[in-house]
This record gives sequence, structure tokens and C-alpha cells, in this order.
Amino acid sequence: MNVLLIGSGGREHALAWAISASPLLTRLYCGPGNAGIAELAECVPLDAADHQQVVAYCKEKSIDFVVIGPEAPLVAGLGDDLARAGIKYFGPDKAAAQLEGSKGFTKELCRECAIPTGAYGIFNSAAAAKGYLATQKIPIVIKADGLAAGKGVIIAASMAEAERAVDACFDGAFGAAGATVVIEEFLEGEEASFFALCDGKTVLPLATAQDHKRVGDGDTGPNTGGMGAYSPAPVMTPDMIRRTMDEIIRPTVAGMAKRGTPFKGVLFLGVMITAQGPKLYEYNVRFGDPECQVLMLRLKSDLLAALIATADGVLDKFDLRWHADPALAVVLAANGYPGDYAKGTEIRGLEAAGANEGVEIFHAGTAQEGGRLVATGGRVLNVAARGRSVAQAQARAYGAIAMIDWPGGFCRKDIGWRAIAREKSA
Ligand code: AMP
Ligand code: GLY
Repeated sequence: MNVLLIGSGGREHALAWAISASPLLTRLYCGPGNAGIAELAECVPLDAADHQQVVAYCKEKSIDFVVIGPEAPLVAGLGDDLARAGIKYFGPDKAAAQLEGSKGFTKELCRECAIPTGAYGIFNSAAAAKGYLATQKIPIVIKADGLAAGKGVIIAASMAEAERAVDACFDGAFGAAGATVVIEEFLEGEEASFFALCDGKTVLPLATAQDHKRVGDGDTGPNTGGMGAYSPAPVMTPDMIRRTMDEIIRPTVAGMAKRGTPFKGVLFLGVMITAQGPKLYEYNVRFGDPECQVLMLRLKSDLLAALIATADGVLDKFDLRWHADPALAVVLAANGYPGDYAKGTEIRGLEAAGANEGVEIFHAGTAQEGGRLVATGGRVLNVAARGRSVAQAQARAYGAIAMIDWPGGFCRKDIGWRAIAREKSA
């Protein structure tokens, strides 16, 4: 079959890598893709916001299946327009993508289905939000309701900071995404990411992962899209996985089906492992980036078959096999990220670095320019590795990074530190 993958990041390179290995695949196309994906797929400069352009391209290339990587086209209803044109796709439709598209929507679903999450209020004015704040404890979490490219969450350490965050949201700091504000109880515990395929009725758990959101070593400095990840996340013990499935995911899938808006696609939960057990702090309706990169390194089964089974609603007849070995990915970002950064700096040495045992390099923001590989984004490369332990995967990833010649970039030096500390004390 012919497959079109939508997106251009490290997540999409990892998906392209896994899909390329499928015996079901005839040709892979990617819009818009990047220099790494171009080695596996025919890249085409599609604009995912232009649904009719995507539909026309699918018809021209006889695309049988579209895999939508990022959240924005899902929330904008690209899937709905593909379905109207008779094209099969992986991901939720617009109604179900609200689980990521509106934080308030998800909180209301949690209330309706008794899903454990932080206490909250939803507000359409600064005055009402501040009235609620006055009744709450510090720290407190202020969230823009809509999509804000990972920037719409402020954890306020003082009431003054919380009020400033509320004002910033209503003053348009996050555009239309901040016209509604969710104020949420600060949850204490260790965070983990959990992924599950859902076909509207059946849930197939994938694997756990942990991301490193802060830009600096020791989890310091500003938040980013994610500076590295590893899988599995040891905090997600079998008991916590069981509770997360029973208390959070299954009620969500049942609740969405009961509302007449079944969820099909991959659910990516942010869960806090608190003293009372797992609590949901956010849903995403797509794979995480860079979490996807480590999941794909651990997946033994055919990804494409699993994505099609999800779209077809036959996950009850499906199973997946995983490498027991952990995987870890380190993000290389352009100097200055997550603030201003230079574009167009040259990267050398990837071929030799990628040839190391257990190592796979996924591109995130790269392009070929006159025979040179150049950086085009903030997060630029992911150096991922599998190993017998997290420590070995980490050593392999950093060994490969040492062979990459890119003065224009940097990475964190401590990806996986929590899991490695656990390995050492075990
Ligand atoms: P997000 O950009 O939505 O992934 O959120 C950014 C980060 O904010 C998450 O990774 C969590 O560390 C943190 N966060 C979100 N909600 C809460 C909460 N209710 N309590 C504590 N931390 C939170
Ligand atoms: N790494 C976090 C995300 O993809 O949202």
C-alpha cells in the first residue's frame, strides 16, 4: 500500500523508519518531511493546514493510508476531510482530538467519568480566574485552554506570578488558545508518559516513557518541547500501569464512545504518580516527540499493521511485541534554543555516528542545501540508542554524539539520570 505521513519532526522520522520496515508498504510519501525522512520517503512540500491540497495529493499518488503525526492538523480536522474524500487515516477525528485541543474539555470529561486528576476551574475572564485563585494554594498551575505549542502551561510559585499568568493569557500571550484559562491544582509526584492505541472501543497499551522538558542539566532552565527521553519509565510499575489503564484510559475511551465521539488513534497521557496513585495532568492525541523515537526503537512488531488495525477498529485481534531492552534518545538543539537560535549551520559526521552499535539517528529540523546538511529548526537531531541497561543506551547515544561535528548545536548531558540512578541503587 501507499502511505502518506504528515509532519516534519523527529517523531515523524521515527515513524517513517518503522513504517519503512513494514512488508505492507509499497511507497512512503511524507509532507513536508526533513532531510532524514527524505532517505526513506518521497518528501513533498505539503501544507497540512490546506486540507484540500492534502486530499488532492492523496488522489494523485493513490494513497491508501495517511498517518498524521502532529496535533495541529488533527485538532483542525484534517482526518475528517480525508474521511469525507474516502481516504483512510490514522488519528482521531476533530471531535475526539479535543482531548488535546481543549484542556477544559478534558477536565470536564474527567469530572463526568470520575477520572483522577487535579482539582480545577475553567474561566473566560481574568476577574473570575483571579476570584478562584484567591481560594487556592500555591504552587498552582495556569493553562491556556487551547494548543500553544507546548508553551501554554505556567506553574506559579506565588500568587503574584499566578495573577500575572492569568493576565498574560487573557492579554493574548498564547493567542486564541488563551481566551479560556484552566486553573489546576499542582500535582506532586514523578511524571511519566504512557501511550496506548485506541480503536474507539479497544485499548492496546504501548509502552511507557519519560521526557526531559527543561533545557538544562539537572532539569533546570526553561521548558522546551523535550530534550531527551527514555523507555520504559521505571516509575510506571506493573501496578501503576494497571491502575492507569483501569482508572484513566478505559474510562476515557468509554466516555468518549458514550458521547458519540469515539477516540481512534494514539492516546498519550501525561500522568503524575502521586501518593494516591496515577493522576492525569494532560492528554495528547498523537505520539510524543522525542518519546516516539524511543518507542519505535523498542517496537518489534509491524507498526503500520498496528496503525491500520486502529483505524479499522480491530485492535481486539491484535498484539504487539517489544524489545525488553530500554531505549534512550538525546535531542541536539541549535544554540540558543528554546530562545532565539541561528538557522543554516552545517552538521557533519552523521553517517559515522549513526553506524555505532545500537544507535539510530532521527532528524528533526534539517535540510540538504547544496550538498551540505544544515539545521533548520530549534530541535534538530535525535541520537537514539538501545542497550541492555539505560546506562548502556546512554553511553551509546553520547558516544555517537561525540562523533557529530556541529558547533552550532548543544545537548543535555544527563538524559536518563533518574533511571540510571535507580539502576545503580538496584
Ligand atoms: P505541557 O506543556 O502541557 O506538557 O505541561 C508542561 C509541564 O507542566 C508538564 O510536563 C508537567 O511537568 C507540568 N504540569 C502540568 N500540569 C501540572 C499539574 N497539574 N501539576 C504539576 N505539574 C504539572
Ligand atoms: N515531548 C512532549 C510532547 O511531545 O508533547
